[in-house]
This record gives sequence, C-alpha cells and structure tokens, in this order.
Amino acid sequence: MTDSTSRSWAALALVLSLFFATNACSEDSAGEALLARGDYLVNGVVACGNCHSARTSDGELIEGMEFAGNFVIEDPGFRAYAPNITPAVRTGIGSWTAEEITRAIREGVRPDGQVLGPPMAFQLYRKISDNDIRAIVAYLRSVPTVENEVPRTTFRIPLPPNWGPPLGVVPDVPRDDLVAYGAYLTGPLGHCTECHTPLVKGRFDWSRIGAGGNLFQNPLGKGFRAVSSNITQHPELGLGQWSDDEIKRAIADGISRDGRQLLTFMGFSYYSSIKDEDLDAMVAYLRTIPPATAPPPAAD
Ligand code: HEC
Ligand code: HEC
Repeated sequence: MTDSTSRSWAALALVLSLFFATNACSEDSAGEALLARGDYLVNGVVACGNCHSARTSDGELIEGMEFAGNFVIEDPGFRAYAPNITPAVRTGIGSWTAEEITRAIREGVRPDGQVLGPPMAFQLYRKISDNDIRAIVAYLRSVPTVENEVPRTTFRIPLPPNWGPPLGVVPDVPRDDLVAYGAYLTGPLGHCTECHTPLVKGRFDWSRIGAGGNLFQNPLGKGFRAVSSNITQHPELGLGQWSDDEIKRAIADGISRDGRQLLTFMGFSYYSSIKDEDLDAMVAYLRTIPPATAPPPAAD
C-alpha cells in the first residue's frame, strides 16, 4: 500500500466515522424530541394520568403511583378500573409491543383481541396522528415501572364489536391552521368536547357540541356533583362574552370568569403546563363553536 492510498483510507475512515457519529447523534436527538413531545402531551392536554394514576380515597394523586392504575370510575353502565399502564411486565403493559399499545389506545383493542370499553375516548383518540401516538407510546415506555395489580372493569352495557375499521395513515394537523390545530387539541388530544357535549341516552348529541350539561356524580370521590359548562359561543350561557385571557385562565388555572375556583374534576393540574401558543389555538377553535344550549335533564 502506498502512503497516499493509506492516507486516503484513513481519510475515508474518518469521514465514515464522522458520518455515523452525526447520524447516531441525530437519531438520539430525534428520540429525545419524541420523548419530550410525549411527555408534554401525556402530562398536559391529554392528561392520561387523570384516570390512570392511583388516588387516595379523597381523590388526591398518590406520589410514586403515576400511571399505575387502580382508579375506579363509577357509572350506571360500568364500574371501570383504569389499568396499570407502566412498563410493569406482570401487572402493566411491559410485555406489549409499541404497535400493541398504539392499537389499544387508538382503536380500543387489546393484544388478546378483546375490545376495551368506555370511558376512554376511543372515538376521539382514533384521530391522534401517527407522529403524536408514537410520541405518547415512547413516553409511556419510559415511565417508572410500578407493579400494581388492578381488577378488570365490569360492564353492564353491551360493548361495540369494535370502535371502527382498522386505521390507515393518520397525518399531522398543520399547526399554522390555528382553528384546525385548536380543534385537534380540544378533540382528539384533550377530549374536552366529550365531557362538554350533551350525552343523551348514552349517545353524544354532536349537533349541540360544547353545550355541556352533563352531570358527574361524586367524580374522583371528592363528594361533590359537577355539571359540565357550556363552552359554546352562547352570549349568556357560554363563553361568548369572555375575553381570550379569561378562557385561557379557566382552562389552565381552573378559575371561572367571575373568579370562582372551578371544581377540580377537569385536569387543571395537567392543563397548567399547556403552552400559551396551544391555548391560543384552543381559544381560536372555541370561538368557532356556534351558540347551543343543553337539553333539559332527563326526567328519571
Ligand atoms: C376517562 C378515563 C381515561 C382516560 C383519560 C384514559 N384512559 Fe386508558 N383506560 C381507561 C379505562 C377505564 C381502561 C380499561 C377499559 C376496559 O377495561 O375495557 C383503559 C384502558 C387503557 C389501556 C389498556 C390497558 C389494559 O391493560 O387493558 C391502555 C394502554 C390505556 N388505557 C392507555 C391510555 C393512555 C395512553 C391515555 C392517554 C392518551 C389514556 N389511556 C386515557 C380510562 C382512561
Ligand atoms: C372530565 C370531564 C371534563 C374534561 C375532560 C374537560 N372539562 Fe371543562 N369542565 C368540566 C366541568 C364539570 C366543568 C364545571 C366545573 C365547575 O362548575 O366548577 C368544566 C368547566 C370548564 C370551563 C369553565 C366554564 C365556566 O363557565 O366557568 C371551561 C372554559 C372548560 N371547562 C373548558 C375545557 C377545555 C378547553 C377542556 C380540554 C382541555 C376541558 N374543559 C376538559 C368537565 C370537563
């Protein structure tokens, strides 16, 4: 080998090692960005832990039991136990693949083929984009493992055979379309519209989206009744006369227009980390919801 060929081999080796090093580095930072996005979503607007974290008998979150389940949600139709979704192999979802976790969250099907039931918002979660669900699943697989056995949910209502046909590609919603992105944050990610849309005989009346009026008995076991507010643009009953800042304060700090502290059922402790630009998008979307009123409560 001549000097010049060995020099060029050395140069090539250097170039190659630099190439692999920068490539590995950009993969690392892509992985970090994915985790950060998952952390931001799960511990912010999506608030999975609002149901999946363990609570004391008076509804306070228990430290060290994040995502370990065993929070009970009572409803005329079911007694739901939010399962352990930490990477615990025996009692959590540690043995599930990323695809299996994705399918459970977006399509409501467990790896054994069983259909999951309410109150998880599968109809909305189906619309979480491929990139965002990858971020959510990556984050879930990074949370501390907690072994905690959780009983299975019992349903007194029939479950649907499925929540829709198998999903294809779900693209991102463009951020520069403020109203569309706000609708995505408020619907598929935050499922705000589920609590805030009238539930009539077990079905959401989407023609009155945002009109509220749903009664929650003793949510989180905190001993109060909560009725979801009207968040349409209705000038008296809804948010029609609220300023943008008043709406943002209600979502992120749990303070109503008149300064009243809202009942701690909505996930304010999570929503306080929502970025200002995302709150702006949510307000832009809420401004487009036409005034509507909730139907009178069923006489039962
Ligand atoms: C309104 C409460 C609620 C929210 C919010 C919620 N879940 Fe669930 N989740 C449940 C309940 C209850 C079940 C069990 C349903 C059943 O047994 O059919 C469940 C089931 C699951 C399962 C299946 C676990 C198993 O062992 O079968 C996964 C995974 C899951 N949830 C992840 C998530 C993630 C991730 C989020 C946030 C994007 C989320 N959940 C938001 C209540 C909730
Ligand atoms: C688990 C059900 C639930 C979810 C999810 C939920 N809310 Fe609420 N929300 C309520 C209830 C119940 C109230 C009324 C609390 C009270 O009266 O103290 C309320 C109050 C409000 C208010 C205050 C209205 C007023 O008149 O004071 C606004 C604004 C609001 N919600 C917007 C949202 C947005 C935006 C989201 C999603 C990020 C959301 N909510 C998610 C149940 C929910």
